This record gives sequence, C-alpha cells and structure tokens, in this order.
Amino acid sequence: MEHIAIYPGSFDPVTNGHLDLIHRGLKIFDRVIVAILKNPQKKFLFSIDERMEMLRASLNGLPLVEIDAFDGLLVDYASQRGASAVLRGLRALSDFEYEFQLALMNRRLNREIQTVFLMTGMRWIYTSSSIIKEAAQFGGDVKGMVPSVVHERLIAKFPRSAKRR
Ligand code: PNS
Repeated sequence: MEHIAIYPGSFDPVTNGHLDLIHRGLKIFDRVIVAILKNPQKKFLFSIDERMEMLRASLNGLPLVEIDAFDGLLVDYASQRGASAVLRGLRALSDFEYEFQLALMNRRLNREIQTVFLMTGMRWIYTSSSIIKEAAQFGGDVKGMVPSVVHERLIAKFPRSAKRR
C-alpha cells in the first residue's frame, strides 16, 4: 500500500524551510502532495497561480512530489486524495499551540488521517513566510532564505529591496 502525505499550507511564498520539510517527508512517505490553500477570504501576497509557479520552479520536477491547490476542509481533501497523513513542520515553541489545535481538530473531523510533525532543519528554525515578507517589504535582503525564483518575485513586488542587493 502506498503511503501518501499531504503537506498543506499557504506557501505565500514557499521558503527554504518548506523545501527542507518536503525532502524530509519524502524519506518517510512514498509520495508527498503539496497542497496550497486557496481560501479567497484570506489575504495573500501572491495569487494561487504565482504560489503554484514558485513551488513548481523551486521543486524543479522532484519525483514523487505533486503540487495542487485546495479549498474547504483539509481532511476532506486528504481523504479524496487517498492520503493517510498530514505533514506539518515544527519550528520553535511558538508553533506548538496552533499546530496542536489544528491537529486535534483535524483528528476530530476525520480519525483516519494522522498528523505527522517533522522538525525543520536548524537553519530554518526562525524563518517563516510572514517574517520573510516583512523583511523584504522594508528592503531587507532575504537571499538564502527562499529559493531564487521567490527572491526575484519578492524584489519585483517590493522594488526597494533591489537597492540593497
Ligand atoms: O501555512 P499555514 O497558513 O499555516 O497553513 C494553514 C492550513 C492551510 C494548513 C490550514 O489553514 C487549513 O488546513 N485550512 C483549511 C481549512 C481547514 O481544514 N482547517 C482546519 C480545521 S477547521
């Protein structure tokens, strides 16, 4: 039986921490489906197409990884896709409360789907899409924290950051 994990998130934008987690997930699961949240009520910096394109370019045809988008309940999407697990990354303590809540709610909604937490690499323990966007917005150099395609897109969104390259 094939073990499939869904790796869900906003990926607004994908960071090197996300890529690190996908590679770790592939050591455990046969396939990983990266599922981008579409939710039109949530305000994203990048459109769903941009977030997909950036993920595609960053993963560069990595086998056994699929990129998809979803809306509605994550557990419903996971069972439609035949996945047995939801993969989430844990950084520092601050992630724990929200992740704990999300995992327990998902378990209540569908007991067949297990949440699997993996620690991100130490290099990425303090980074997040939000802090990276904030730094880029005010001209901070985020090179090395995001794939090069994302770096270029952030510079295009916030031209001030180009000055400090
Ligand atoms: O990267 P993020 O933004 O922390 O990801 C959050 C995500 C997409 C995993 C979460 O918001 C989600 O699963 N949304 C879909 C709706 C859902 O099923 N929510 C959890 C149970 S109410």
